[in-house]
Amino acid sequence: MRVFLTGGAGFIGSNLVKRLVRDGYEVVVLDNFVTGRLANVEEVADAIEIVRGDVRNLHDVEKAAKGAEGVVHLAALIDVAESVEKPRLYLDVNVQGTLNVLEAARQAEVFIFASSAAVYGKPVKLPICENHPLNPLSPYGATKVAGEALVAAYAATRGFRHVILRLFNVYGPNQSKTYAGVVTEFMRRTLRGEPPIIYGDGTQTRDFIFVDDVVEYFARAFAIEKVSGVYNVGWGKGVSISELANVVTLTLGRPELKPVYKPPRPGDVKHSVADVSRAYRDFGYRPKVQLKDGLKRVADALTSNAKNI
Ligand SMILES: NC(=O)c1ccc[n+]([C@@H]2O[C@H](COP(=O)([O-])OP(=O)(O)OC[C@H]3O[C@@H](n4cnc5c(N)ncnc54)[C@H](O)[C@@H]3O)[C@@H](O)[C@H]2O)c1
Repeated sequence: MRVFLTGGAGFIGSNLVKRLVRDGYEVVVLDNFVTGRLANVEEVADAIEIVRGDVRNLHDVEKAAKGAEGVVHLAALIDVAESVEKPRLYLDVNVQGTLNVLEAARQAEVFIFASSAAVYGKPVKLPICENHPLNPLSPYGATKVAGEALVAAYAATRGFRHVILRLFNVYGPNQSKTYAGVVTEFMRRTLRGEPPIIYGDGTQTRDFIFVDDVVEYFARAFAIEKVSGVYNVGWGKGVSISELANVVTLTLGRPELKPVYKPPRPGDVKHSVADVSRAYRDFGYRPKVQLKDGLKRVADALTSNAKNI
């Protein structure tokens, strides 16, 4: 199967590209390298086609998507705070971009869209299941709601199988320096000998899932025909940010670096935990990488190259 991936040079994309190459897929990547890096896909560069282009440009997307039977649309701007400052930019990249990918992917039999837990906003019920109301608190979250709706509407008219994966907090090697998630941010600071910064009192919880487990869900979304519609992708357990900071500093042998607390950021939700039973039922898979093991792998990747810190 020929698979077209947008954002394939990014954090999740590059890990997925390597897996799809191993599984024998023919892979084409479209990326404008705004946060993605060629180095992320270097080891498979000879086995894939890389098109430098922008999802906002239909011509670029059509060129790269030609003949693709499978599509994974990951390209997006992902910084919640920046989306508040630059909503129009986020709309252009995340919504117009999604429309272009749908327009261009005429031969697609399966279309997988990387959505986000940000579509839910403040939870009215925990754990959050897929039929929880969608009340995004940021333009970023709103663009994901719009993207999901476009994917579902095109699937209804064109008849392809569509899979929407609402990712919770994904962490792992290759996370972009610009928009590093909390895990990578805590790790980098600790490795520099600086204490982790916590916004709020640290009791807020997040649902962390290692990137290899996320990649497994994407790979299975291709392979398992009955997988269709919307799925939460997370571990299914909340970890408090204070606990995360402790585990990070302990893992890196710097327990004396006690977190610094700052005022909470507007729009941050208190608790976020996924109900993952639907994904488990249809994908037959539960995440395997324990937080402490995943953190060690991030630490190894960061320390192997000082430029990452
Ligand atoms: N990392 C997480 O915890 C998380 C959580 C929820 C959802 N997601 C979603 O997963 C997807 C991948 O996120 P990531 O963490 O790998 O981020 P990332 O920034 O590493 O990857 C995004 C990729 O898209 C590319 N890109 C951005 N704008 C583009 C454009 N206009 N044209 C072409 N390419 C463009 C970037 O260069 C990058 O390679 C995103 O859609 C994101 O919203 C991620």
